[in-house]
Amino acid sequence: MKQYIAERYRRFESGLSLDTEALRRYDDVIDLSIGDTDFTTDRRIIEAAFADAASGYTHYGDPKGDPELIEAICQAWQEDFGQAVRAEEVLITASSCMGMAQVMLGLIDPGDEVLVFSPYFSVYRQQIELAGGKAVEVATRQENGWRPQREDILAALTDRTKALIVNTPSNPTGAAYPQETLEMLAELACRHDLIAVADEIYTRYLFDGPFVPLRTLPGMAERTVTLNSFSKNFMMTGWRVGCIIAHPDLIRVFQHVGNGMTYTAPSISQRAAIRALSLREEIADIYIRQYRERVLYAADRIARIHGLSLYRPRGTFYLFPGLEGQKTDDKAFCARLLDCAHLLVTPGSAFGQAGRGHFRIAATVSMDKLIEAMDRLERVFED
Ligand SMILES: Cc1ncc(COP(=O)(O)O)c(C=O)c1O
Repeated sequence: MKQYIAERYRRFESGLSLDTEALRRYDDVIDLSIGDTDFTTDRRIIEAAFADAASGYTHYGDPKGDPELIEAICQAWQEDFGQAVRAEEVLITASSCMGMAQVMLGLIDPGDEVLVFSPYFSVYRQQIELAGGKAVEVATRQENGWRPQREDILAALTDRTKALIVNTPSNPTGAAYPQETLEMLAELACRHDLIAVADEIYTRYLFDGPFVPLRTLPGMAERTVTLNSFSKNFMMTGWRVGCIIAHPDLIRVFQHVGNGMTYTAPSISQRAAIRALSLREEIADIYIRQYRERVLYAADRIARIHGLSLYRPRGTFYLFPGLEGQKTDDKAFCARLLDCAHLLVTPGSAFGQAGRGHFRIAATVSMDKLIEAMDRLERVFED
């Protein structure tokens, strides 16, 4: 069958899919590999969507997105970040994965280069390459709090560099860039005429906020493409709904790309998103607060384990410990962790070159399970 497969997919490797075989191997595996919230969507959101579906929101919607949702997004942006966003600057997408694919297909010509700060959400590479672009990894380091450094970015720039992807708070490291890093990125984007693609899907998971969107920095509204999603901020991963905020000329292109793929985001999910936005403070307080507690608990435990190093996360539900002085590589370590401790985690190298020697823990299990997982992890390093 291989001869029928498109050249670009003949040698693909997927690092992030759920390892169901590993889960079946032992009956007491604690799965710390899932980047999905373990909470079901708040009942009030489900009920609002159900009522709207029953009243007829079961059809194709407006190809740009439900106008009520777009209006709610503009209003929330103004209230939360003090910046006016016009309806023509917003496009509803069927998730930010889909949104990023639309953005790359809309912006990138074959051979264009896109900077990604490694370790990075590895799906970016596929989205860039699908558009014929080249993902250029700019390494970040734990000792710098996983923040990109100006000199590393300058060294990676070429005359084909068209865009850079900025993901803060960051999957997989849990890093969140301080104001000076955002300003440095904005200054470089303006000076080198780059589009900044801001993947801001964990905004409400910033532990020591407030969150500052890249497009609110001077000169950045014009050249930032912001990706937002209801997946993580609202415990709505399965609803597949998000949005892009960008210049109307770019929005028209991204809409064209998306209309050819899914036409629109699901109508019912867009109705759910309207209700979700109205509950955003409560959702953060009920659910996201618990992730903060879990992540900081796990960070305290890991900090006491000899043999592991850790950047203390400032956001998200991930931790990204480093294997200090371990002879094994991260993939071998994760395989051993599964066999010895029945813990499933993700090898750091799945997130790019700079992730080597690390592994990702997603604190997407209950506190009881997390305590048990940390006990098991500790024992591995005592042996
Ligand atoms: C940084 C980052 N961007 C995008 C996504 C995809 O989110 P969505 O569910 O909106 O497609 C994820 C999911 O884990 C992520 O961690």
